[in-house]
Amino acid sequence: MNPLKEKGIPIEKQTKSWSEANVTPYNKKEVHPYTRTRVIFMNGIEVEGAIFSHQCARHTDDMELKKMLALTRRIEQQQQKMINWLIPGDEHVLAVTIGYEQVAVDLTAFLARTEPDTYVKAALDFALLEDFDHLYRYANLMNIVMEKEAAEITGQFTEITIGRPTSAEHRYPFDDVRRHYDAQSADFLTKLHVLTIVAAEQQTMNFYMNVGNRPEAMLGRGLYLEIGQVEEQHVTHYESLADPRASWFERLVLHEYNECWLYHSMARQEPDPHIKKIWEEHLEMEIEHLKIACEIMKDKGRKDPEEMLPKQLPDPLIFESNIEYVRDIMAKQTDYNADGTEFLPGEKMSKDSRYREHQEKVNKGGAPSDRVIDEHKKEKGKDYRQELKGPHPIERFRK
Ligand SMILES: [Fe+2]
Ligand SMILES: [Fe+2]
Ligand SMILES: [Fe+2]
Ligand SMILES: [Fe+2]
Repeated sequence: MNPLKEKGIPIEKQTKSWSEANVTPYNKKEVHPYTRTRVIFMNGIEVEGAIFSHQCARHTDDMELKKMLALTRRIEQQQQKMINWLIPGDEHVLAVTIGYEQVAVDLTAFLARTEPDTYVKAALDFALLEDFDHLYRYANLMNIVMEKEAAEITGQFTEITIGRPTSAEHRYPFDDVRRHYDAQSADFLTKLHVLTIVAAEQQTMNFYMNVGNRPEAMLGRGLYLEIGQVEEQHVTHYESLADPRASWFERLVLHEYNECWLYHSMARQEPDPHIKKIWEEHLEMEIEHLKIACEIMKDKGRKDPEEMLPKQLPDPLIFESNIEYVRDIMAKQTDYNADGTEFLPGEKMSKDSRYREHQEKVNKGGAPSDRVIDEHKKEKGKDYRQELKGPHPIERFRK
């Protein structure tokens, strides 16, 4: 489908009453794991939509533009709340956290598998193994604190085991900055992928920033603190891939187009009829946002948005199991590191690199991500894992 050719919902008809917007949350015992990930994911997309619109408004003196941004932004905020409010109050923060890292794993793997640009794909593969490890660390914390298995949340779709060990992920900030694609020549799908993964990682960063102080015990507080800093690295890593020379108008159109693509994608897969209706209705709202953004670009940016947009939405983004893909990348790249903008095997890093200096600083006295595994072993005799397709692909990480 081409969203520009669809009808959509007029902007004046998008505002809901409080009772309409205050949705009934899903049932945590019955929700499909990938429904939970879609909810977490689309909340992140809407948060980025709202924050981007604020940034855009702060960079213009054009009253008419500010008013149009305020108008659509209020709806992005309404959408964000309707989605985030689908998460029930009785779902524990740690359980939601497991959901966040499952999003990171299966979203990143899907994007990497379908990414046309080799450098962007390498960046996705690189961070994939880090979020994969976060899932394992939080799962062990959860089993200690709540006596609950993370696999009850993730289902049989995503493995839970060691990735690139979290304590090895801490790098000097210069080594998080990547080269950017060229907006003139990049594949349109690359632009959507980068925007999408930035929104998801940024939401994870924000989430840990805010809820990381909710655990009572020092171990849990330390783990959120440590992983929260890696999410900061991930946002720096991904945001630097986007071409900073793109105009505000291009970025506005790209944001609204991306929301159309993603709601269309989510609606296609959603088994929960109540939530599917939300995806479908939001798609119709986004069609209108996209048209408004295109008008703004034509009028104020003096550029034809149709020149940059494809004639058809790309194939849908799917939440699905990526076990084989993750295992394959793990077997090849677990010990990879970053030196400036490039990724390279760990043994190629020089002994006196800033990486090592930074490692010594932060890991002095031990890392919570290592301690959580030691604690679990002490209490239960072994670490918590869910390896579904045989022993760990890397020998030294086998039990
Ligand atoms: Fe939106
Ligand atoms: Fe993560
Ligand atoms: Fe991440
Ligand atoms: Fe939108």
